[in-house]
Amino acid sequence: MKHRERIAVVPGSFDPITKGHMDIIRRAQELFDKVIVLVVINAMKTPSFSPQERVELIRASVNDLEGIEVDSYDGLLVNYVRDVGACAIVKGLRAVTDFEYEFQMALINKELYDKVETVFLTTSVENQYLSSSVVKQIASFGGNIHPFVPEQVHDKIMERLGKTRR
Ligand code: PNS
Repeated sequence: MKHRERIAVVPGSFDPITKGHMDIIRRAQELFDKVIVLVVINAMKTPSFSPQERVELIRASVNDLEGIEVDSYDGLLVNYVRDVGACAIVKGLRAVTDFEYEFQMALINKELYDKVETVFLTTSVENQYLSSSVVKQIASFGGNIHPFVPEQVHDKIMERLGKTRR
C-alpha cells in the first residue's frame, strides 16, 4: 500500500514558546512525516505576544529541525486540521491538572471532525511544572528564564516581558 504522508498539528497558545513545547514538537516530529506547529486563539486567555510575534518566536526556535512548519489560525482547530489533511492533533499532557480540559477538547474535536485523532504525549519529568504563564511571571520579576525557554528566543522574550512590571 502506498504510504500517505502523515501530518500532525501541534496547536497551542505558545505565549511564549517554552522548552516544554519544544520537547513535544521534537517528539511529534519523530512520530509523523510532517508537523505543523499552530498558534491558535484561546478565547479564555489574554495574550502577551501577538500571533505574528508568537509565530516568529516558534520559527526561530525550530530553525534547526526538519519537517516542521509554523502557522497561525483564527478559527476552529478542526477546520484547519481538515484543510491541511492532518490525521492527528498532538498535545503535551502535564500531571493531572491538564487532563480534564484536554480530555474535553479531544472529545469535542472528535465530535466536530471524526477523522482526527488526538495524541497525548506525556510531558517529560523536568517540564511537568513548566508553563508559559510561569515563564511570564519569572521574567516580569527579572528572574532567570534561561532554563525554561529556547536559547534562540531568550533575549526577545526577556526584552518584552522583563519590562512589564514597573
Ligand atoms: O496552549 P493552550 O492555550 O492550552 O491551547 C488551547 C488551544 C489554543 C489549542 C484551544 O483553545 C483551541 O483549540 N482553540 C481554537 C478554537 C477551537 O477549536 N476550540 C475547540 C472547540 S471548543
